[in-house]
Amino acid sequence: MPNTVSFNADYPVLIRSFELYEKAKQIMSPVTQTMAKGPGQYSIGACPVYLSHGKGSRVWDVDGNEYLDWNAAIGPLSLGYGYPEVDDAIRKQLEKGITFSLMHELEYEVASLIHEIIPNAESVRISKSGADVCSAAIRVARAYTGREKVLCCGYHGWHDWYIAATDRANGIPRAVRDLTFTFNYNDIDSLRDSLDNEVAAVILEPFVFDEPKPGYLQEVAELCKNNGTLLIFDEMWSGFRIALGGAQEFFGIKPDLAVYSKAVANGMPIAFLTGRKDVLQLFEKDVFFYTTFGGEALSLAATKATLKVLREKNVPKNLAEKGQILKDGYNKLVEELGMKAYTQCKGYPCRTTITLEATTGNPLAVKAYFQQEMIKRGILWQGNHNMMYMHSKEDIEYTLKAYADVLPLIKEAIEKGDVTSRLRGKPIEAAFRRVDNFNMKPKEPAK
Ligand SMILES: Cc1ncc(COP(=O)(O)O)c(C=O)c1O
Repeated sequence: MPNTVSFNADYPVLIRSFELYEKAKQIMSPVTQTMAKGPGQYSIGACPVYLSHGKGSRVWDVDGNEYLDWNAAIGPLSLGYGYPEVDDAIRKQLEKGITFSLMHELEYEVASLIHEIIPNAESVRISKSGADVCSAAIRVARAYTGREKVLCCGYHGWHDWYIAATDRANGIPRAVRDLTFTFNYNDIDSLRDSLDNEVAAVILEPFVFDEPKPGYLQEVAELCKNNGTLLIFDEMWSGFRIALGGAQEFFGIKPDLAVYSKAVANGMPIAFLTGRKDVLQLFEKDVFFYTTFGGEALSLAATKATLKVLREKNVPKNLAEKGQILKDGYNKLVEELGMKAYTQCKGYPCRTTITLEATTGNPLAVKAYFQQEMIKRGILWQGNHNMMYMHSKEDIEYTLKAYADVLPLIKEAIEKGDVTSRLRGKPIEAAFRRVDNFNMKPKEPAK
C-alpha cells in the first residue's frame, strides 16, 4: 500500500520514480528543467523523483504515495492544486481557443487589473517567465539611462546578463561578464561603493528570508535616484504573497520598474513587467521585447481568475496568519529541544525557511536526513514553507506534529555525529556555490 499523509511505518516504496529517472538520464542532461525540482534538491534514493498529480495541498508521486506539499511548485501555486475557479476559467477559455492571430481582449483586461493592483504599474508588459521580464527590465533600463552596468543581489533567472555574475557563467562571453556585479543585501555600503555613473540598474528582491533593516530599501531607492540609476524590484516571490501589490505596497516604496510571475496565475506560465511609463514606452520602438506566446489566453484567463480570488479572499492575510502559526510552532519546538544553535524558522510568514546552521556539522547532509524523515511522514519538504491558500489549519497542526517527531532525531544525529550513516540517499546539492559577496564591482582607482 502506498504511503499517505501519516506517520507511516516505513519509508515510501519508490519504484516507478527511480525507473523513470534512470531512463530519463539516458536522454536528458540534466533530467530536470528547473533546478529546484530536480534530484539535487531532493535526496536521491530517499525521495520521490516524479509526481503524478495534486489536489488542494496534496500531491501524489508516480508510485501512488501521497504527500502534503510545502513547496507550492516553487511558488506558482498561491491558491493550491486544482483550485476550482481558476481551473474552470482555464477550461472555459480552452473551449474558445488557446492562442490567436491577433491580440486577445484578455491582454488588456489583465493589464488593467495589474495596473490597478501594483503601485508602480503606470505601464504594464506581459510575458511568459521570470527570466523574460528580468531581462526586459534590464534592457530597457540600459536603453533609458544610456549606461551598461548592472548591480544585482539574489537570483534573477537563467539569462546571460545575470548568470554572468555567478560561478556558473561558462558559455557567456567575457564582454557580458564584465557588466554585471553583485552587492550584499542589507549592506548599504556595498551598494554605495559600487554605484557610479556607469550603472544603469540596481535589481534586487526586496526581501528573501531576512527582513530589510529599517530604512534600507528607502536608502537603496534614494541612492539610485541620486545616481541616475533605475531601481528594479524582483517580486517573483514577494508579489501577490506579502501583499496583493507585492513588496512595493507592503513597504510603501515605488521602484522605477518591477517584475512579477509565480503566484499570479496559480500555476500557469505568465509574467509581468510594471513601471514608469516614460521608461516602458521605449519598448514602442527602440527596445525590442516580443515573444510568440506572450498573449496566450489560457494563462491570461487563469491570471484573471486567480487575481479575483487573491483579492476577494484576502489571500495575503490568510497566508500570513497560517505561516505565522507554523513559524512560531517550529521555533517553540526548537527552543524546547535546546536546538537554537542548529536551526530556526525565519522569513515573512507567507514564505519561511528552515535554516540549518554550520554548527550542525554538515548542513546539506542534515537537510537530506531531515527531508527523508519528513517524506516518511508524508510531507514533501525542501526546507521552505511556501504558503498556499488551500493549506488548512489541520495541515499546519500535522506538520508541527511531524517536526516534533523528527527534530529530536536530527538533534541526536548531529550530537552523535552520525548523520551520514543514517542517510538512505545522497546529501542535497548546493544550487550555486556563490551568488553574492562574489564578483563585486572593482573600486575605481583614486584619481
Ligand atoms: C527572484 C527570482 N527572480 C527570477 C526568477 C526566474 O524566474 P523563471 O524561473 O520563471 O524564469 C526566479 C525563479 O525562481 C526567482 O526566484
